[in-house]
Amino acid sequence: METRRVKTKAKVITLEQEFLSLLDFYEDGEYSKVKFKSGYQNDNIIFEDNQVRFCPKNIAINNYNIAKIPARYSKCKNITLDNGGWEIIGTDKSIQDALNYSVEYTKNYPNNLPPFFVGTPGAGKTHLSVSIITELIFKHRKKCLFKQFRDLLSDIKDIYVKNESEKQYVDKLCKFDVLVIDDLGATRMSEWETSVLDTLIANRYNSKKHTIFSSNLAFLDGNLYKVTSKDQVLDYKIGERNISRIFEMCSVLEMKGKDYRKKNRIKK
Ligand SMILES: Nc1ncnc2c1ncn2[C@@H]1O[C@H](COP(=O)(O)OP(=O)(O)OP(=O)(O)O)[C@@H](O)[C@H]1O
Ligand SMILES: [Mg+2]
Repeated sequence: METRRVKTKAKVITLEQEFLSLLDFYEDGEYSKVKFKSGYQNDNIIFEDNQVRFCPKNIAINNYNIAKIPARYSKCKNITLDNGGWEIIGTDKSIQDALNYSVEYTKNYPNNLPPFFVGTPGAGKTHLSVSIITELIFKHRKKCLFKQFRDLLSDIKDIYVKNESEKQYVDKLCKFDVLVIDDLGATRMSEWETSVLDTLIANRYNSKKHTIFSSNLAFLDGNLYKVTSKDQVLDYKIGERNISRIFEMCSVLEMKGKDYRKKNRIKK
C-alpha cells in the first residue's frame, strides 16, 4: 500500500488512515475481526495494464481476519504506532525504548531484528506485539499470526489426534511472515514439546521469517528480576537451547513499567 500523504481541507491524513476509516472492527468470539463499513463497495479484483490482481485492501482485511488477534486487543490499530494511544506511565525509560524500537522495527521491516519483550505484568508487551502486527498487516499486507504460548502447546498436543505430522504443523506456522508467541514459558513443557518448539523456532529462523516473543519470566543474566526460584527462569522453562536461539534471532527489550491494568484502579 502507498504511504503517500493525502491533503484534506483541515488536516493531513495518510492513505492508511483513510483506509482504516472505511473499516468496522468487530468481535467474533474471542477474536477481533474487520470488514468494510456497510454500504462501501469495493472491487476485489483489479484489471490494470492487461493484468488481473487482487485488491490490496481486501488482502489486508483477509490477513487481519486470519491473524487471530484477541478481541481485547482490537484497540491496537493505530496505523502508526507513534500516533496511537500510547501513554507512557512511570519514569522508566525502558517502556519508551520498547516503543521506539517497535516503531523503527515496523518502519524498517524486515531489516531489523524482531523484538523479544521481557517484562513485568501489565507493562504493555502484548499491546505492543499486537500493534506491530496490525501495522504490518495494514501497511505492508504481511501475513501474521498471534499465538498464546499455551495454545501453541495444546496445538502440539493435538498434532497426533488430528493425524497431522510434526512437520506439517511446523510448515503451517512457517507460512506466516510474522508470528507472535505471547507469554513464552507460561506453562511447563515436556521434552517432546520442547523439541517441537525447537524445530519451529529453528525452521522460522532458517527461512528468514520473523518471530516476536513476549514473556514475564526472567532469564539468566537479565537485569529485570532477582530470581527466587527456577520456575521463574525462562532458560529452565523452555530449555537453554531454545533461549539461546531466540537471543540470536531477536532483540531483547526489558520493560519495567508500572502495571497498566492497575492504572485506573488505584485511588490517588
Ligand atoms: N502504553 C499503553 N497505552 C495504552 N494501553 C496500554 C499501554 N500499555 C498497556 N496497555 C493496556 O493495558 C493492558 C495490559 O497490557 P498488556 O496486556 O500488553 O500487558 P503485558 O505486559 O502483556 O502483561 P502480561 O505480562 O500480564 O501478559 C492491556 O489492556 C493493554 O491494552
Ligand atoms: Mg501479555
